[in-house]
Amino acid sequence: MTPKHIEEQYDAVIVGAGAAGLSAALGFHRSDAARGLREAGIEPKVLVVSKLQPLRSHTGSAEGGIAASLADMEPDEWRWHYYDTVKGGDWLVDQDAARLLAEDAPMTVINLERSGVAFSRTADGRIAQRRFGGHTSDFGARPVKRAAYSADRIGHQILHTLWQQCVHYGVDFAEEWVVTDLVLDETLTHAAGVVAFDTHAGVTHAIAARNTVLATGGAGRLFHTTSNSHDLTGDGMALALDAGLQLEDIEFVQFHPTGLAHTGILLSEASRGEGGVLRNADGDAFMASYAPGHADLAARDVVSRAIRSETDAGRGVADPRDPDGPKDCVWLDMTGIDPERMRRNLPQVVETIEDYAGLDPAKDLVPVKPTAHYTMGGIPVTTDGEVYVWDGERRNIVEGLYAAGECACVSVHGANRLGGNSLLDACLFGTRAGQAVAARVAANPVGAGTPSDPTLEEALDAAKTARDADIDALVTGAAGDAGDDDDNAYRVMADLSETMERGVAVLCDAGSIARAQVVVDGPIAERARRLRLHAEARAFNQELTAIWEARHLVRLAEVMLAATDARHESRGSLKRTDFPERDDGTCLNHSMTAADAAPLRQPVRIVDIEPGARSY
Ligand code: FUM
Repeated sequence: MTPKHIEEQYDAVIVGAGAAGLSAALGFHRSDAARGLREAGIEPKVLVVSKLQPLRSHTGSAEGGIAASLADMEPDEWRWHYYDTVKGGDWLVDQDAARLLAEDAPMTVINLERSGVAFSRTADGRIAQRRFGGHTSDFGARPVKRAAYSADRIGHQILHTLWQQCVHYGVDFAEEWVVTDLVLDETLTHAAGVVAFDTHAGVTHAIAARNTVLATGGAGRLFHTTSNSHDLTGDGMALALDAGLQLEDIEFVQFHPTGLAHTGILLSEASRGEGGVLRNADGDAFMASYAPGHADLAARDVVSRAIRSETDAGRGVADPRDPDGPKDCVWLDMTGIDPERMRRNLPQVVETIEDYAGLDPAKDLVPVKPTAHYTMGGIPVTTDGEVYVWDGERRNIVEGLYAAGECACVSVHGANRLGGNSLLDACLFGTRAGQAVAARVAANPVGAGTPSDPTLEEALDAAKTARDADIDALVTGAAGDAGDDDDNAYRVMADLSETMERGVAVLCDAGSIARAQVVVDGPIAERARRLRLHAEARAFNQELTAIWEARHLVRLAEVMLAATDARHESRGSLKRTDFPERDDGTCLNHSMTAADAAPLRQPVRIVDIEPGARSY
């Protein structure tokens, strides 16, 4: 008998409605397998659960472009894109996955165009492309125009297009529902579904699903200075950890070089692709000496560290709105870009600078500093999006569990992602995950919403009961102790983000990591545990969501710090000043870290590009 709480049965539940989640939904519905099911009279039941209204997903704020060797403006080849991706990732990239990324990139962009994405165009009507950091032709010889763009609003275009296509295909959405639990069997070999909280009604739902896809995005809110929206609280990664799974390479966090001072808001790399230059307090365009030949369009880790070197050497500038404040910024000089071209190709960047800094980038220098932008690591997946557990020797697939996009790690970004490869990863591997789910459903086409294994349903039922008890305790303040009335989730998140920024942003060493661990694993974890609600309503109570978000961030921070502490080298975005060199001899491997456990090590999949030096 189905346990009483199982109200919904789905063939697939997709958690998250950004580029990866929507691509998975479309990949499912457009696949041959789904078509076959429909022709056989079986209408598969697919649900997208989203913490936000889908069009508010963070994909909408992606600015500069999506990478693909279309060769619309200059000669280009997927092999060069593949090489750049591996080299940009400082060789911590699984080369089979990166090759797939580069080879399938042009078709991914063409498919987006056919779905309705309005790309910017060349005079003769081809998709326009611009330069982005680390993208080169001829295996590093010279920069190449590879990022296909739509002014500086490519994410907005892609998000709206994918969503419209999902509406066209009749995808079901549960909007403003928060997934609180990912439920697996005890052996971590099968997924049962999720428990989700409907924030409008204030009730939990146990959703049984033969397949679950996690596509919840990143975790920028771990850091005080971030380009990410406030909603990016690492939910999918924390759900995986709470369910007993591992995260791969979670110590690698990308700091984008050009966050607008003191807001962290992204000023797209396109501003440098279009001719912008970074300058220090003396007016020097310093990147030429850090990355000869590539200068301001070196890879992001290189540029962010160069900014930090300049500010540490006393050549930084203060935010003009706070002239006595820290000199932790440099100037972004866009005055050399033709103003009309700037308004046409960078409208979002211009507006952001005008609205948030009160400056005119055609005349004024703009203060910028590195801003937390992207987690290269995440839930380990195969190139078909299947989540696996690494046991020290092999990958053990969790049947019925998939992940895609920033919350996942298919390991195409390694230790540092190239600009434009994020939307590509989300769209391409999101689609592949959806196709794989459809194939799995079609292989066992026993009918829409077929009940899953009874033991899995019991596990799901138990998770819902426990979650309801957790909510009761938060409402009544009976969470084992009285909690602290003066504290709240927002303060916990603010303190956590400042601790993480001090401990591991851009540079770190054993001492800074340990200091962060003392605070995060101790008082912050304890405060997150003792949080309670200040209003009893369950419906539309944003504090309830914030409490779960704070707990997710704390869980993730604990694991991130443990993985960072355990990697004794500098590679890509991770610069340990106490281990300043890359160490391929002992560290050319992926960290696989579960909560409260030391990382296991998985070898990097090298196919045909041997690790070499990296100068840009
Ligand atoms: O700078 C940017 O427009 C960011 C692009 C990306 O992260 O891929």
